[in-house]
Amino acid sequence: MKYGYFDDQKREYVITQPDTPLPWINYLGCQAYFGIISNTAGGYSFYRDARLRRITRYRYNNAPYDFGGRYVYLRDDASGEFWSPSWQPTRHKLEEYSCRHGMGYTTIGSKYKGIEARTRYFVPLDENLEIWQLTVTNHRAQAAELSVFSVVEFCLWDAQDDSTNFQRNFSIGQVEIEDGVIYHKTEYRERRDHFAYFACSEKIAGYETQREDFLGAYRGWENPAAVERGHESNSVAHGWAPVGSHHVKLSLKPGESRQVVFVLGYQENPREEKFDPPDSQIINKKSAKAVIAKYRVTANADAEFKKLSEYWNELLKLCHVDTPDVHTNRMVNIWNAYQCMATFNMSRSASFYESGIGRGLGFRDSNQDLLGFVHMVPERARERILDLAATQLPSGGAYHQYQPLTKRGNNDVGSGFNDDPHWLIIGVGAYIKETGDWGILGEAVPYDNEPGSEMPLYEHLQRSFRYTLERLGPHGLPLIGRADWNDCLNLNCFSDTPGQSFQTTTNKDGKVAESVFIAGLFLVAGRELADIARHRGLGKEACSYLCEVGKMEKTIREHGWDGEWFLRAYDDFSRKIGSKENAEGKIFIETQGFCTLAGVGLEDGLAARALDSTRKMLATKHGIVLQQPAYSKYYLEYGEISSYPPGYKENAGIFCHNNPWVMIGETRVGNGDQAHDYYTRINPSAREEISDVHRCEPYVYAQMIAGRDAATHGEAKNSWLTGTAAWNYYAITQWILGIRTSFDGLLIAPVIPKNWAGFKVSRKFRGATYQIEVQRAGDGNQVSLEVNGAPVQGNLVPLPAAGTKTVSVKATLR
Ligand code: BGC
Ligand code: NOJ
Repeated sequence: MKYGYFDDQKREYVITQPDTPLPWINYLGCQAYFGIISNTAGGYSFYRDARLRRITRYRYNNAPYDFGGRYVYLRDDASGEFWSPSWQPTRHKLEEYSCRHGMGYTTIGSKYKGIEARTRYFVPLDENLEIWQLTVTNHRAQAAELSVFSVVEFCLWDAQDDSTNFQRNFSIGQVEIEDGVIYHKTEYRERRDHFAYFACSEKIAGYETQREDFLGAYRGWENPAAVERGHESNSVAHGWAPVGSHHVKLSLKPGESRQVVFVLGYQENPREEKFDPPDSQIINKKSAKAVIAKYRVTANADAEFKKLSEYWNELLKLCHVDTPDVHTNRMVNIWNAYQCMATFNMSRSASFYESGIGRGLGFRDSNQDLLGFVHMVPERARERILDLAATQLPSGGAYHQYQPLTKRGNNDVGSGFNDDPHWLIIGVGAYIKETGDWGILGEAVPYDNEPGSEMPLYEHLQRSFRYTLERLGPHGLPLIGRADWNDCLNLNCFSDTPGQSFQTTTNKDGKVAESVFIAGLFLVAGRELADIARHRGLGKEACSYLCEVGKMEKTIREHGWDGEWFLRAYDDFSRKIGSKENAEGKIFIETQGFCTLAGVGLEDGLAARALDSTRKMLATKHGIVLQQPAYSKYYLEYGEISSYPPGYKENAGIFCHNNPWVMIGETRVGNGDQAHDYYTRINPSAREEISDVHRCEPYVYAQMIAGRDAATHGEAKNSWLTGTAAWNYYAITQWILGIRTSFDGLLIAPVIPKNWAGFKVSRKFRGATYQIEVQRAGDGNQVSLEVNGAPVQGNLVPLPAAGTKTVSVKATLR
C-alpha cells in the first residue's frame, strides 16, 4: 500500500493521505537555521544547535505521534466552524489533501468546504528565518468571511532544560509585541543576546502570546478557545508557556485568492546593542525589523524560493545518472543525495528518532558521511575533516564524539572505540580523491584541541594507522576496545547494572577481545594511506604500510576465517564470536562485508564463499540481517547487542548501513546481479509499494529494518540520520555503476546487472563535467574505454588538461 507518489520532475514526494503510518518528515534549512517538518506541519526549528538554541517546542513520543508544529487554523466566521488545512491538529476529513516534500521546502495544502489553503514552508538561503507562505482561495459561489490563526509554541532555548526544569521555566518566559510582531525574549534580559520573532504580512486583528489564553484551560491544540470564539485576547505572556499566534481576517469573493506570509526568525544583537533605548530592557529590534519588512512583500519570498531551487539544482546535477532502473535514478539523482546533505547538516542530532538533545557529532559517523556529500560541498567537507582531526588524541585514538558548538571532544563518551582512527584515513582519502587537494595534508592540526600540539594532518593519519599496530591482541588481530563499528558489541563491558551505558562501562582491561572487523578496516585504511604516501614520494613508507597490511591479511586468513565465512571477533575469554561453534550469533554481516570489500580471498575463493554464506544465512527479502541466529538472551560478555529483542537493531535487525559493504563485496567478485539485487531490497523507493509494512518514509533510508526474527519483519525505524545514506550512495555510484574517484582520475569500473544494456552518467569531477556512456557488448565486467573519441588502455580516465570543461567517455563492457 502507498500513501503518495514520487513526482520526479519536481523532485518531490507527494503524500496524498495525512495519516501516514508515522510522521513523514523533511528538513528546512541548509546553513544555520534549521527545522524538521512533518506531513501534517509538525516539527520544530532551531538555530545551529538543536539542543541549545531550540526556537520552537516539540514533544517527542507523544500521542498522537507528532505534536508541536507550525500550525495554521482556518475559521469560517459565518458558521464558526474551524479546521486545520494541514490536518493536524484538528484532524478534519479534508478534501484534496497533499503534502509535497521537496528539496529544502514542504508545501501542505487541502480543501475543505470550498476553501483551499496551501502553505509553503522554507528557509531562504543566507537568512536565519523560515517563511510560511499561505495561499487561501475561495472556490465557493458565495463570498467567504474567514479568520486565519497562526500558532507556534516557543521553546525556552535549551531543549533539555525546557522539558525538565519546570520550577524555573514556568517563571521566566517573556515576550514583547510591536507592530503586530511577536518577539520571544526569554533570558534576553540577562545573558542571552538572541531572541526569536514571529511576524505576519497582513494587518492583524489580534494576537495571543500566552498558551493558556490561546488554548483555554484544559483544552488541547485541536480546539483552541481563541479559534473557537473567533477572536484573540491580546495576551502578554509572563512566565508559563509563551506562544506566538496571529489572527488575520480575510474576506474572499468567489474565486478570489489571497496570500499571507508568516515569518519566524532568529536574531542576535551585539552585546552592547541589546537594548533600545540603551538603558531600557526593550529589545533593540532594528536588524530584525529590516528582515521582517523584506519578507512582508510576497514577491521577495518568491524570489528567495527561486534561489533555493537553484541551489539544489546546482548540487544535484553534480552527479546525475540515467539507468534502466527508476529506483536507482530517483535515489541517486534526488533523494539519496539529498539525504546525504541532511546527514552532513544534522549529523545524528534532530529527526523523529533523534531528539536533538542527545549525541554530539560522531567521529566515525562524520568521517563516513563524507563519502556521500564530499562531491557536493567539498569546502565544507574540508572544514569538517580539520575539525574532526583536531579532536584526535595524541595516541592516534579519538574522542568518539565532539560537540559542534565548541568543537571539543566529548568527555562523557570519551574514546577507546578502536575502529575510530581508521575512518579518518578513509574520510581524508575520499576528500583528496574527489578534489585533488593534496594541500590539506600539510594543514597544521592540533591533538585534542590543545594549542601548541599542532602537527600536519598527514601525521594524524600516520598515528591513526599506528594506533592499531600498538593494540594487537593474542591472535595478532586488533583489540576491539569499547566497540568497533558495531557500538553494541561491547566485549569489555560486562555490565550487570541496569541503566549503565554499554558504550562507556568498561570492566575488563581490554587486552584480550579482538575484532576481525577492525582487521578488515585496517586493510582498506592501510592501502589508502600507502597510496597517499606514494603520491607524496614516500615510497619506503608506503611499502612499510603495505607490509603491515599484508601481515594483517595473513592473520585474518589464519585466525579470522571460520571455514565458510569470516569470524566476527574473539571475546574476553578468547572465544570465537560469529563462528559455527557458537549456538547463537554464528555469522555476522560486518566481516563478510568488510573483508570481501577489502578483497580478502578474492583469488582463492574465500570471498566468494563468505558471500555465499551471507546469501544463504543472512539475506532476506527485506535486506541482509546483521547476524544469525539472533541472541535469544542477554550475554554479559557481549553487551548491548544481546540486550535487544531478537530481530531489532544490532541483534539481527537489517542494519541498512552495512548492507552496502556486501554489495561492494559482490562487485569485487564480479556479481552485478547480486549487488544490485541487494541494493534494491533496501532501496526506499523500491519499497514504496509496501509502505504499510515499511512504515517509514519511502524517499529516504532508515537505519534499520526489522529482521526475520522480529514480529514486525520489514518494518523500518530511525529514518534520515544514518550512515546508510552515504554508504548506499557510495556503493551504487562508485561500485555498482562504478564511476569511482581515485587519486589519479576517474575510474570506470561498472559491475551492473547482466540485463542492463547500459547507462549514462554526468559527473562533475575536479572542475570538468564527464559525460559517460556505458554500453554492454557482453555479459562480463571487462571495460574498454574511449575518451574524447580516442581509445585509452585500462579503465582510468586520465586527468584532463587544466581548464578542460567537458570530457566525453564511452565505455564498453564485455
Ligand atoms: C544503538 C546504536 C548506536 C549507539 C550510540 C545504541 O543504543 O543501538 O545503534 O550506535 O546506541 O550510542
Ligand atoms: C549507529 C551509530 O551512529 C554508528 O556509529 C554505529 O556504527 C552503528 N549505530 C552500529 O552500531
